Amino acid sequence: MKIFATRLIPEAGQTILESAADVDVAVRVEDALVPRDKILAGIRDADVLVSLLTEAVDREVLAAGTSLRGVANYAVGYNNIDVAAATELGIPVTNTPGVLTDTTADLAWTLLMAAARNVVPADRYMRSGKYKIWGPSLFLGVDVSKGGDGRSKVLGIVGFGRIGRAMFRRAQGFDMRVIAFDPPLRELIDETDGVDYAEMDELLAESDFVSLHTDLNDTTHHLIGAAELTAMKSDACLINTARGPIIDEKALVAALASGEIGAAGLDVFEGEPAMAEGLNELDNAVILPHIASASRDTRNKMATMCAENALAHLELARAPNCVNPEVYDTAAYRERAAE
Ligand code: GLV
Ligand code: GLV
Repeated sequence: MKIFATRLIPEAGQTILESAADVDVAVRVEDALVPRDKILAGIRDADVLVSLLTEAVDREVLAAGTSLRGVANYAVGYNNIDVAAATELGIPVTNTPGVLTDTTADLAWTLLMAAARNVVPADRYMRSGKYKIWGPSLFLGVDVSKGGDGRSKVLGIVGFGRIGRAMFRRAQGFDMRVIAFDPPLRELIDETDGVDYAEMDELLAESDFVSLHTDLNDTTHHLIGAAELTAMKSDACLINTARGPIIDEKALVAALASGEIGAAGLDVFEGEPAMAEGLNELDNAVILPHIASASRDTRNKMATMCAENALAHLELARAPNCVNPEVYDTAAYRERAAE
């Protein structure tokens, strides 16, 4: 049996993979890109594919894996995988949900606080030796809690899944008013004390902070574009720890530069690892290299979960965390499993 991994996952998971099969890793260097031809070559005789969010697992890759029993993605998000094609070809796909919820919400909250209070430019100011004398208007920011004007600030959560709800819990400690937009989860929002449902236009107009926690799909691509940025308050902060293409990044750069919104905190980018032109020059943007789930414990937990999913694929067992469980009832899956 052969497990093909596009890149190394943390040792806790890698060890589990290696105990069960031969593991062929396309690229072992942490910061090197994985050439497409290596993926297409490695998938040919692979029984299981372990993929990272950096590699596109599209129809061509899936179709080349003629003996593939499943794909185990090392991430909760799986927009890098063509799941519809996988289902059609009889291939189960798994992700790593749940384990990174708090860690991701912690970083979204960090971005929110940092963007509100100019933490990053103030740090740069100190390092460059510019701090000569304290003054009352040095790095003025906005309050997250009631603060100076005594008003509960409004947090607008777009996507009330696990991570969105973890943001809601954090906001309660800051006396915020929380509103949320998520049509499929409207009932859950209505039933949850302390959060009110808001349509998108209402959420944009009322929020002091807007935080994105939806997955990336056809309905969420460029969910925040020029019109939505215009609809936001002029001192509002926009936080994105979900996926870059949910925001029209070029429009965001323009809105940040013109003061149409106050600040942004971004962990993900539209053309990741690239950034829209001008973003890196804006002091009102906090920009991080996709590290929302990057705590040691969480990355290890994701690795063991990913490896356990991979082993289930290998054994033709129903994988925990399967994102297309309907695949198990298809003829395409049964034919694959019988081979
Ligand atoms: C990281 O972005 C993930 O989806 O796990
Ligand atoms: C991801 O874990 C989510 O459901 O928000």
